[in-house]
Amino acid sequence: MNNVVLCGFMGCGKSTVGKNLARKTGRKFIDMDMYIEKKQDMTVSEIFEKYGEQGFRDIEHEVCKELAGMSNLVVASGGGAFTFDRNVEVFKGVDTIVFIDVPLSVIKQRLKNDTRRPLLQRPDKDKVMAELYNKRLPIYRKAADVTVSGKSTPLKTAFAIIEAAKLKQ
Ligand code: S3P
Repeated sequence: MNNVVLCGFMGCGKSTVGKNLARKTGRKFIDMDMYIEKKQDMTVSEIFEKYGEQGFRDIEHEVCKELAGMSNLVVASGGGAFTFDRNVEVFKGVDTIVFIDVPLSVIKQRLKNDTRRPLLQRPDKDKVMAELYNKRLPIYRKAADVTVSGKSTPLKTAFAIIEAAKLKQ
């Protein structure tokens, strides 16, 4: 309750914007992937390797339920979390869901040298990224209560969320 949950594609700035937003609105910041890593004592890549993507998604779903039971948080979700109805259902109507919208060209630039995200460690990375992006964009939009552009600085984006979601500072 009273949580703000950020969703959007990998590299859209959920974590950096989230930290700013938490500071400005007096909430605690939680990065979902880091929360999962701490809980499992493994990196996201190690979890994908050991349990496969489905195993990771099941852990992610449990963590969504856990976080939705807490209050006064800003949560940076993992880029895939809100593409599953069961996770949208956990937060919808309970917390404020914000989609950070960033064009694919900007995302590509930001993730050019990424080594951390298992879904992107492949030779046809650009193609896969474009396919995933186009498939997911309408899903994020539909899941969100509020959409803001994430092209600007993290601080400006945080202020745009405060205004759009009518949050107290
Ligand atoms: C994923 C995004 C990642 C992480 C995992 C899967 C996705 O989070 O949860 O690699 O499916 O888009 P970020 O959006 O924080 O990179």
